[in-house]
Amino acid sequence: MKGIVLAGGTGSRLFPATRAISKQLLPVFDKPMIYYPLTTLMMMGVRDILIISTPHDLPLFQRVLGDGRQWGVSLGFATQDAPRGLADAYRVGRDFVAGEPSALILGDNLFFGHGLVERLRHARAALTGATLFAYRVSDPERYGVLEFDARERAIGIEEKPAQPKSDWAVTGLYLYDGKASEYAASLAPSARGELEITDLNRLYLERGEANVERLGRGFAWLDTGTHDSLHEASAFVKAIQHRQGLVIASPEEVAFSQGFIDAAQLEKLGREIGSSEYGRYLIDLAQSHRA
Ligand code: TTP
Repeated sequence: MKGIVLAGGTGSRLFPATRAISKQLLPVFDKPMIYYPLTTLMMMGVRDILIISTPHDLPLFQRVLGDGRQWGVSLGFATQDAPRGLADAYRVGRDFVAGEPSALILGDNLFFGHGLVERLRHARAALTGATLFAYRVSDPERYGVLEFDARERAIGIEEKPAQPKSDWAVTGLYLYDGKASEYAASLAPSARGELEITDLNRLYLERGEANVERLGRGFAWLDTGTHDSLHEASAFVKAIQHRQGLVIASPEEVAFSQGFIDAAQLEKLGREIGSSEYGRYLIDLAQSHRA
């Protein structure tokens, strides 16, 4: 399975903080925002990943992430020259995806919860058509919203509806079979001029090819596109990390736990940034496994 992190956009709701730098490079507590979606893909076992961003920001992502070799993954980079919408990822990423199954994740989405990795890995293994992850929210009108029939089967999906037909929003993690690029190529821009992921998802849904997995209250799904939500996400990560003494969404730790790198490599990565708490955490982790 191929992976795409969509990390472009304008970030206009975070102005002026995002005037000079991509939202996805801003920190969520102690690490760049993109670490969160990137590690979600890595935890699913996805190792061939394309990062899509603006021409201005892409070199910065390359500086932050490198080519991925240090984490035992392969990172490629592609530009989206204008924010043409989320489904545009499958135009920009068409050659990269090359007709294979893929996972698309939005660069400002954070997933957390016990058993999440199992759920995602299972969804990956069982994928036919598309798999969408739904999450109950208090403000569904901000998202793509699902409609269900009496037997709780998804029968419709609407983008930012004024009168939402449920409280279940579609999260920013999408699994697609090999037809995503072909379907995306058939979409026309919406009234706001974007290629809507909701239109791509509706295509799968109408063909009876979409599965919806609900993530219950044991999971956190946060997006970080506003000052309030960014602050809340930082507070969430800080609270859990301090309480447990474990770091959320460290690519180094995930690479180690997935067996992509060994303890010696992990320790070397820690020493490169050993003056930070984050670096010392990696060193301790590596040493406790080598001892
Ligand atoms: P949005 O939050 O919808 O858009 P945005 O990031 O431009 O922010 P704002 O509304 O404040 O201007 O985007 C969701 C995610 O998708 C985010 O991680 C940015 C990314 N994105 C792209 O990479 N390309 C795009 O064309 C769009 C619309 C979003």
